[in-house]
Amino acid sequence: MISSQIHSLIVLLLLALSAGDQISAAIETETEPVPAPWPEQFHALLLMNKSGSLEIVDLWYDWVNGRNFNIIQKQLGKLTYDLEWNNGTSFYYTLDASKTCRTVHFEVGILRPNWLDGANYLGQRQVNGFLCNLWEKVDFLWYYEDVITKRPVQWIFYTGREAHVMTFEVGAVLEDEKWQAPVYCFHNEKKNSE
Ligand SMILES: *[C@@H]1O[C@H](CO)[C@@H](O)[C@H](O)[C@H]1NC(C)=O
Ligand SMILES: *[C@@H]1O[C@H](CO)[C@@H](O)[C@H](O)[C@H]1NC(C)=O
Repeated sequence: MISSQIHSLIVLLLLALSAGDQISAAIETETEPVPAPWPEQFHALLLMNKSGSLEIVDLWYDWVNGRNFNIIQKQLGKLTYDLEWNNGTSFYYTLDASKTCRTVHFEVGILRPNWLDGANYLGQRQVNGFLCNLWEKVDFLWYYEDVITKRPVQWIFYTGREAHVMTFEVGAVLEDEKWQAPVYCFHNEKKNSE
């Protein structure tokens, strides 16, 4: 008697467990992870690799003030400043004796904090010792985010250019005076308007 009662108890337990598995499996497929939005202000050091051309990028993302700064050190090359404003104007300059500056106007401004919305989830991958969730932003890039900390670990553009995130300081802001493009960026525009 007792053994048959134990037996039916075990059967009930197993049924309950497998039903629970099915329920949790159903929940998992319904709620795929989504990328964390970018913090409105952060500072990151990136190691870039474009088919073997290496760069260190000092990135200051500042959505609050509508600006984004890439300070680019090419390996054994020039230090180059890529200052982007949310009105679509970008200044690309050096601060050395060559005094070069190129101004480019884009249709769109800087990336919005939610620019990864709508990316396709592709599952988890191990990347340089970090377990990451991977998404694809079609026609643009693959984005790898640490599963636990939700910090970006790397992104890889369709062009093959890789960005590896070395530091990620949420809330860090570069002082205002550093965001001033040099005077020689404005010479041409002044000539045109005079
Ligand atoms: C950079 O990428 C190339 C492949 O495009 C690879 O062979 C090389 O090892 C990479 N270098 C570094 C420092 O990651
Ligand atoms: C965009 O903003 C920057 C910074 O204020 C300014 O230098 C630039 O002239 C602006 N561009 C346009 C098209 O208004």
